[in-house]
Amino acid sequence: MAEIAIVADAEAAGELAAQQIARVVASRPDAVLGLATGSTPLSTWAALKGRGLDLTGVRGFALDEYVGLPDGHPESYRAVITREVVEPLGLTPSLVHVPGDDGGPLDGAGERYEAAIAAVGGVDLQILGIGRTGHIGFNEPGSSLTSRTRIKTLTEQTRADNARFFDSPDQVPRHCLTQGLGTILDARQLVLLAFGEGKAAAVAAAVEGPLSASMPGSVIQLHPRVLVIVDEAAGSQLRHADYYRFAWDNRLPFEV
Ligand code: PGA
Repeated sequence: MAEIAIVADAEAAGELAAQQIARVVASRPDAVLGLATGSTPLSTWAALKGRGLDLTGVRGFALDEYVGLPDGHPESYRAVITREVVEPLGLTPSLVHVPGDDGGPLDGAGERYEAAIAAVGGVDLQILGIGRTGHIGFNEPGSSLTSRTRIKTLTEQTRADNARFFDSPDQVPRHCLTQGLGTILDARQLVLLAFGEGKAAAVAAAVEGPLSASMPGSVIQLHPRVLVIVDEAAGSQLRHADYYRFAWDNRLPFEV
């Protein structure tokens, strides 16, 4: 089962996630990190910056990218990852990849991204947020549980949720390239973070609900090594919250 940590706030969650990343990088300075965008991972990047680690050897692969934004658009995930992760944390730009950024045609971009991840030996640790639709990456409801990197159509809910980053809601692209659920499952460790009441239903369904393509986040139940870190609000619909707290408080030194 996943380890579930219910913590006070996003800052505490970021510290815990950064600790996981630091452990991976300590054992392997050229570790491969799966990078998420959106608001959720910001406290993780802040905590990681606070640790002052040398991350120049780390390779990075973003989960997803919009399709259809002009090159250099500030809300493209290439730009977001550069601004929020690569520059502040001192990663080496040429070692960080975003789906579709290899200069090749859109057709086949998913397969090429999969090949690039495979060429470095796979992702060691994947950071994940979860959308209110239950998506991880941009795998919206109905995504095959074994899907690979490919083009997807965003739900109207996701477009509305992401409209805050754009001048107007119709500027949010309709399509994206996203790692598939099968791609995500191949990472050696998953760390999923969620904050706020708006994520509570998705978190409960992902952690405790039936495994279903209708709730893409539920695919984490198939992974042998998952740490779910939520604040009290995002964890408020977890049926077994008391047990998760008990298990977390009593975890053995070699766990997590
Ligand atoms: P958020 O998005 O971090 O901006 O809430 C998460 C997601 O949509 O996966």
